[in-house]
Amino acid sequence: MAVNLQVQLARQPEGVPKPGDFQIGQGPRPAAGPGQILVRNIYLSLDPYQRGAIAGTFGPARLNQGDVIMGRCLGEVVESHHPNHKPGDIVVVESGWQQYFAVDGGAAGLVRKIKPEAPLSLYLGALGPPGLTAWGGVERLAPPGLGETFVVSAASGPVGSVAGQLAKAKGARVVGIAGSEEKCRLATQKFGFDACVNYKTADWTAALKAACPGGVNVYFDNVGGAMLDALLAELAAFGRVVLCGFISQYNVTGARATNNLGPLIAKRATMKGLVVYDFLGETDQFIKAATALWKQGKLATHEDRVAGIENAPAHFVKLMKGENVGKAIVALAPEKA
Ligand SMILES: NC(=O)c1ccc[n+]([C@@H]2O[C@H](COP(=O)([O-])OP(=O)(O)OC[C@H]3O[C@@H](n4cnc5c(N)ncnc54)[C@H](OP(=O)(O)O)[C@@H]3O)[C@@H](O)[C@H]2O)c1
Repeated sequence: MAVNLQVQLARQPEGVPKPGDFQIGQGPRPAAGPGQILVRNIYLSLDPYQRGAIAGTFGPARLNQGDVIMGRCLGEVVESHHPNHKPGDIVVVESGWQQYFAVDGGAAGLVRKIKPEAPLSLYLGALGPPGLTAWGGVERLAPPGLGETFVVSAASGPVGSVAGQLAKAKGARVVGIAGSEEKCRLATQKFGFDACVNYKTADWTAALKAACPGGVNVYFDNVGGAMLDALLAELAAFGRVVLCGFISQYNVTGARATNNLGPLIAKRATMKGLVVYDFLGETDQFIKAATALWKQGKLATHEDRVAGIENAPAHFVKLMKGENVGKAIVALAPEKA
């Protein structure tokens, strides 16, 4: 019998997940029913939201033991009973962490066909949902003006690196914040940021002030908590803050509120929440613009990749500890079967 390996929940994690919170299970390989396609998954995307999906704070329900972990894959259609798809098509599917997935070929939101013009795994990163998230923040919620200072945290990750590069393409001065010298080097040398501050050094707020002498016009926040407090204190007049993520709080119970809203009044500043789903209707426009930048060498990417579905749990734990350097990807199968 052809099998379908899956990563399932073994037990609800407490705090930062551990590899033992997951188990490798298997079921029979599914077949495509009427109107369905069968997808052979090639790359699995590991993303911070999956922590909330496991706990039930994001998505439909808290997972139970044996449930397949929620997640997105890029794969190849190997069987189709749907007029929009044929074998060999490349799709991004909300399949969960598993090797094969059968789904209604017309299920908008679950399946999106890709016409690849760049390496396939980028459609889970810079040219996929993380890139669209960055695009929504930079193009729609808080576009920086020419010469304005744009600061982004988690600067070496897929959202932060794309946000910074889109801001740079609009003529902003871009300052990253990241958790190691290696990540900062990536931000300045590969992604072309003007400066990057390592917040794990004792004097990082002084370094931030020095990097933003005129204050921060736009802060794209991926982290929340104490870092958001520190950045609010550095806003320029009429500063804009995009609240994209609060990863510093995902593994703690009782999310910490910001204590530092005073500067919003004094600086006449604004804060906007970002939800990537609001920009799904603009996906084609985003992919066209981002692909053009990528082809011009103005959208660099960096991956933290492992191979084999059995390595997905440890790779996710690494992401949850902030130890990933670049977009966390698991290669599940060769691109050509
Ligand atoms: N609102 C939306 O619709 C939406 C959509 C997609 C993603 N997001 C959010 O965007 C943010 C970035 O996502 P991404 O996919 O690009 O992730 P990512 O940057 O690859 O990974 C997370 C990074 O967060 C940083 N971090 C800071 N504090 C941390 C902590 N206490 N624990 C663990 N990591 C910490 C780490 O980098 P450093 O070492 O540099 O700190 C880590 O590498 C996340 O908050 C995510 O939830 C939001």
